[in-house]
Amino acid sequence: MESVIETKNLSKNECYDLLHAQWTHLSDANCPWYSNFSNATSLLKTIFNFWWVGFYVIENDILVLGPFQGPIACTTISKGKGVCGTSWQQEKSIVVPNVHEFEGHIACSSASNSEIVIPIFSQKTGAIWGVLDVDSEHLNQFDETDRIELEKFCASLGQLV
Ligand code: SME
Repeated sequence: MESVIETKNLSKNECYDLLHAQWTHLSDANCPWYSNFSNATSLLKTIFNFWWVGFYVIENDILVLGPFQGPIACTTISKGKGVCGTSWQQEKSIVVPNVHEFEGHIACSSASNSEIVIPIFSQKTGAIWGVLDVDSEHLNQFDETDRIELEKFCASLGQLV
């Protein structure tokens, strides 16, 4: 399988176009969620070179670490805690321009400076299933384009759970 993706001359919008196009070919509804979500982290990492990208999944009323790419991360997050737990509680996306100014931010990596968390809703049940968490080593990395495009991506992931 070809895995080399050249992105250095692409704009942010072109990167998202590439993400959505690649995902259409890569996602496989016949495979378990963790196979698909593992490839989703790889695709995001490869196209955007994010510092950390991964999933937290709701199990027994707690977020547990799912497939990810990047440095080691905390394995559980309670509802309402950190950016991920807050996104879960509020069932909405959260863009954090500077994690050091977010009260209760959970620092899995000291190199992280900004973050975006997007809830994933199961298409089957309509309920929140988990979150996508993306960290950057740069301040102010994420904007409305990232929120809109990653919500679109997560809507597609929600079809698989
Ligand atoms: N920063 C997150 C915790 C997860 S790690 O960044 C991978 C938070 O505050 O919820």
